[in-house]
Amino acid sequence: MNALHHHPFAPRYHRRCREAVEGLEPTVLEDCMTAMHASPFASLLHEEPMDPEQSFIRVENLTKVFQPKKSRRMLGLLPAKSATVGFTAVDDVSFDVKRGEIFVIMGLSGSGKSTIIRMVNRLIDATDGTITVDGKAVRSLEPAGLRDYRNRTINMVFQHFGLFPHKSLVDNVAFGLKVRGVDKEAREAKAAEALAIVGLGDRIHAMPDQLSGGMKQRVGLARALATDAEILLMDEPFSALDPLIRKDMQELLIKLQSNFKKTIIFVTHDLNEAMYLGDQIMVMKQGKNIQRGTALDLLEAPADPYIEEFVAEVDRSRVLTAAMIARRPGAGGLQSHATVRVTGDTVLHELLPTLATGAEPLEVVDQDGSVLGKITAEDVFSALSPSKGTSHAA
Ligand SMILES: Nc1ncnc2c1ncn2[C@@H]1O[C@H](COP(=O)(O)OP(=O)(O)OP(=O)(O)O)[C@@H](O)[C@H]1O
Ligand SMILES: [Mg+2]
Repeated sequence: MNALHHHPFAPRYHRRCREAVEGLEPTVLEDCMTAMHASPFASLLHEEPMDPEQSFIRVENLTKVFQPKKSRRMLGLLPAKSATVGFTAVDDVSFDVKRGEIFVIMGLSGSGKSTIIRMVNRLIDATDGTITVDGKAVRSLEPAGLRDYRNRTINMVFQHFGLFPHKSLVDNVAFGLKVRGVDKEAREAKAAEALAIVGLGDRIHAMPDQLSGGMKQRVGLARALATDAEILLMDEPFSALDPLIRKDMQELLIKLQSNFKKTIIFVTHDLNEAMYLGDQIMVMKQGKNIQRGTALDLLEAPADPYIEEFVAEVDRSRVLTAAMIARRPGAGGLQSHATVRVTGDTVLHELLPTLATGAEPLEVVDQDGSVLGKITAEDVFSALSPSKGTSHAA
């Protein structure tokens, strides 16, 4: 049984086959599986529905070496090494993204972030490694499969959400769905829903030139999330925005995401943005993945001085949540009764006004109302201080 579950083919194994082979000796099992894959019944192996916990996008050992242009090589304009071996922009990077997750790729300029996104989209070809999306090997897609992948599975969002000036907001947002053949009523309903989430529900028939710059950005974001592509690739979409609009857009992305549930790869060089948005964050440095984890993983155990430097700049009050620092029921030192309840996902910054009224300890509960623990004002202030960190966290 164990041998079966750990076998590399196991996740794809059809249930009936699994029942038939359970309990076999590992060596016999190995032979059976190899025979199955070579047999006319091999297609059965792919029948089992995908486990939602399984990775939706899987990238393994992805590498991109850019070769110098021939002319520069011949003119001797490059150092001897790069003239022969090229420049490694992405170096053996592996990661996986679950369905519905926001996966952030973070790193300084030139660290290889856009190159990864372009390889996932097949705008450029990888030098080595594999990219699997929903079980399909992206690097081996033939022209028809590739067209389908680009048209239906993924949607690439660039920095400038250009709107069609001659189309109303609802038509702008519904455009992607129209191209994919969604009928008028359904696409307009979805577009109106997205526009309502970004606060423009009463302006759906307005024209883009009647909007402020910030409003246009909101429409662009609504359009990106309202398509039927399951995956969004977003390459620094908010970098050119002023800080207030940028914050607004980050909040709207979370709101739209909770409604439309896309799987998002989001590129940024801003760690605050990465920590606010990312379920998982991968930090890139000179083409390599140097750490991967949640915001709290990066704050508590930065894997590299480069990440430590970034983390020192992070606004902890907007990244740490009540759940992250709550002391579990029964932990010592908290005898008094809690007077105010807060949910676990409340960021510490939002607790400050309550704490300023003298209400403490606060009781932290999850979405279902179960108690996660309690926190005092002192817990909050000590978590906000980088020197003390969050070492007392539950
Ligand atoms: N077509 C190309 N030919 C040669 N080198 C390239 C090419 N595209 C990118 N590079 C190099 O690969 C490295 C990574 O580039 P990439 O665009 O992925 O960085 P990035 O992390 O997205 O940076 P930024 O934050 O500035 O957008 C850089 O050194 C860049 O000069
Ligand atoms: Mg880039």
